[in-house]
Amino acid sequence: MRMEGRLFLDVRKRMFRNDEILLTDEVGYVAMADFKVEKTSTPTPADQRRVLMEDPKFGRVFTDHMAVIRYTEEKGWHDAKVMPRQPLQIDPASTVLHYGQEIFEGLKAYRAKDGAISLFRPEANAARFAASARRLSMAELPEELFLGAIEALLQVDREWVPSGQDKSLYLRPFMISNEVFLGVKAASEYLFIVLASPVGGYFGGSGGIPVWVSETYTRAAPGGTGEAKCGGNYASSLLPQREAAENGCSQVLFLDARERRFIDEMGGMNVMFVRKDGSVVTPPLGGTILRGITRDSILKLGRHMGLTMVEEPLDINDIFAAAASGEITEAFACGTAAVISPIGEFRRESGTVAFGDGTTEGPVTKRLRQALCGLQRGTEEDPFKWVYPVQA
Ligand code: PLP
Ligand code: COI
Repeated sequence: MRMEGRLFLDVRKRMFRNDEILLTDEVGYVAMADFKVEKTSTPTPADQRRVLMEDPKFGRVFTDHMAVIRYTEEKGWHDAKVMPRQPLQIDPASTVLHYGQEIFEGLKAYRAKDGAISLFRPEANAARFAASARRLSMAELPEELFLGAIEALLQVDREWVPSGQDKSLYLRPFMISNEVFLGVKAASEYLFIVLASPVGGYFGGSGGIPVWVSETYTRAAPGGTGEAKCGGNYASSLLPQREAAENGCSQVLFLDARERRFIDEMGGMNVMFVRKDGSVVTPPLGGTILRGITRDSILKLGRHMGLTMVEEPLDINDIFAAAASGEITEAFACGTAAVISPIGEFRRESGTVAFGDGTTEGPVTKRLRQALCGLQRGTEEDPFKWVYPVQA
């Protein structure tokens, strides 16, 4: 719960081990001020920053600072600070370099027309981050600290939140294990960091994206880590992603590992289809796909708009047939980076099928995209209370 720019925190219940951090006389409240702030002595000059932010594309431009919190078994979470962004010093025997205990999140800060900065459902990212930590057997970062780190960083790097229709400040919270040890076990030390990067669209160009259906590789099996947002899932997606690129596609679509038949999701986003009756369908959550926050928002928003939103298993052969017959008229990718991006066609070894005319964004995709972006950017009413204003 937020109160006047402060985060309410049941310190005693959840943080009793962490007496070194969150020192505050007002027990129960942790202020952003609890993050020690060490500002860079060489900030990016304003004119240079403006140039960098003009057309930032995705993930190449970074702000001047980062938020960091450390964890050890003895101290719990401690040493929370905002500091100049800089290379990390890591021991070569650090466990993350060998066994890949790493998780991350992705969310965006938006600047409204009046200059105000807001986040979109960051509590959902915090909860998913904690769930990923549990699956990877890592220390769980309290949600309040996850949010506090983001807000503290935004306070220092607020000038980096771009305005403009398709721009935002992409936030990348992540956590690595860094115990120095070569035995295979859950580490006793962790490092949590938040980076910030002004971004434009994830996909360059316009028109629908071509998507490669991988029949060779799968992403996640039942009981695996598909639902966790861990680096390993993305490492294993890179070869199929390369296969996609070799076939002229910008994303790879994965099928279920058991039958290689049902659609799971793409390398970095969920997928939805529009039937000619206007209903929207997407595969159900079942442990192998990421619980996309954009996916969830679209399902709820669509229902609110009066659309029929369906979660059901989707056989790839049925989708090819339905797209060819015109039963399915639109397809789109959805995710924080992708927002809502129309899919032009699916390609696989045996052939290609287009959605609609393969280039124009369909009307339902467009309606949903405008409604979602309107909410995120504060130009539409927010009946869900998803917008999280930041006092930066
Ligand atoms: N699926 C995968 C594999 C992703 O990496 C992402 C991106 O975060 C998503 C789905 C969409 O999730 P969200 O909407 O929470 O960004
Ligand atoms: C995101 O959308 O935040 C992701 O992590 C996906 C990745 C393709 C950038």
